[in-house]
Amino acid sequence: MIDRTDDDGLEVEAAAATEAAIEIAALAVEPTGTRFAKRTSTYGSSIWNDIFDLFRQHDDPIYFGDGSPAKEAIPIDGLRESSRIAWESALEILNYGDQRGFDQLRNLIAARMGALGASVSPDSVLVTAGSTQGIDLACKILLDPGDVVIVERPTFLGALETFASYEARVVGVPVDADGMDIDALEAVLKAEPTAKFIYTIPTFQNPTGTTMTVERRYRMIALARQYGVEIVEDDPYVELRYDGEHVPPLRALDDQVIYLGTFSKTIAPGIRTGWAVAPPETYRLMVAAREIADISNDRITQRTVYHTAVNALDASIERARTIYRANRDTMLAALTEFMPDGVGWSEPAGGFFVWITLPESFDVNTFATLAASFGTVVFPGDWFYHDRAVLNTIRLSFSTVAEDRIREGIRRLADAIRSDIAGRE
Ligand SMILES: Cc1ncc(COP(=O)(O)O)c(C=O)c1O
Repeated sequence: MIDRTDDDGLEVEAAAATEAAIEIAALAVEPTGTRFAKRTSTYGSSIWNDIFDLFRQHDDPIYFGDGSPAKEAIPIDGLRESSRIAWESALEILNYGDQRGFDQLRNLIAARMGALGASVSPDSVLVTAGSTQGIDLACKILLDPGDVVIVERPTFLGALETFASYEARVVGVPVDADGMDIDALEAVLKAEPTAKFIYTIPTFQNPTGTTMTVERRYRMIALARQYGVEIVEDDPYVELRYDGEHVPPLRALDDQVIYLGTFSKTIAPGIRTGWAVAPPETYRLMVAAREIADISNDRITQRTVYHTAVNALDASIERARTIYRANRDTMLAALTEFMPDGVGWSEPAGGFFVWITLPESFDVNTFATLAASFGTVVFPGDWFYHDRAVLNTIRLSFSTVAEDRIREGIRRLADAIRSDIAGRE
């Protein structure tokens, strides 16, 4: 054994370590990929590197890719004060907590769901690290590799990534201005009788901004019952309606629906606080899966969110609606003013997104680079299709861009579209 107090000994040890490192480096020529689980082959194909590249194309880019709330819409004073209150009693709660979440927060969530028309017991509410964790937990308890998940086509990219990570087979059903096409859903259910669940974002859908009609909601529920599939309803934007009547969540129409909510869009995504509501057996398994994953949400943050929700959330949502309504109106007016013939767009009554359909001849990936060189960075729509097969769509978010920048950004986008068309004539 080397005497660590001996200088000569340390030199010998260093030399031995260097020799060992050289030997290890020589061994490392073998490819390493084979040791990882098969499911990791679906990891890491991220849009974000492409988006960062787009930013480099212009010295003052206008970015329409952000699915976050506007800074002015975050109840920051409420959060600061609530965090102070939460830390005051912190010594009592810095041990491990209830996996289901802070009971007062669960009561509050149940009451807020009641206001949306869905009568739920706090005992069916699980606080999660955002809807993202809710999607993950639903997959964890429902999916074996190869199982079928039915989704809107297009749908939320993050959910597609989660489904891929569970080696699910994703089957898409088209969406129109009234939400998922229920006749097409029925055909898919007939063709895929062992499908596990329908994943739907019925209200102010990401990415299309569209909302499913009540009639379609009832038909979806009837079909789910008939074919024995679960419904996972992802509902982050329901409280951000700018005009028209509230449409009740699917969970308000059927207590078997697995419902996912989040404070990411109404408070802030950085607090990582959302919730799942599920029928008893599903709930039991989701809580167990949640405990295995990471035990529970951060207990201080749950109290911060609770006090913010009690003291500041409704007023903050009212303010946010005013900001987003004006942004949406500006975007729709600019689209009407600047877009050439052949370009279509959705007209959302809430949420963050407008969905653009370009002429079929477009390839959105080359077009996104061209648009970036004109100074507008957009989210290429192909990322919202599990097979990336549709190349003529774009998602625009209006939540974080100031009104004058929205108008300028759409003007630049329209110029880029004209330039792309001209370049191919
Ligand atoms: C439909 C949908 N589900 C889930 C999420 C993720 O939400 P969270 O921050 O709560 O994980 C988003 C955010 O963009 C979303 O649009």
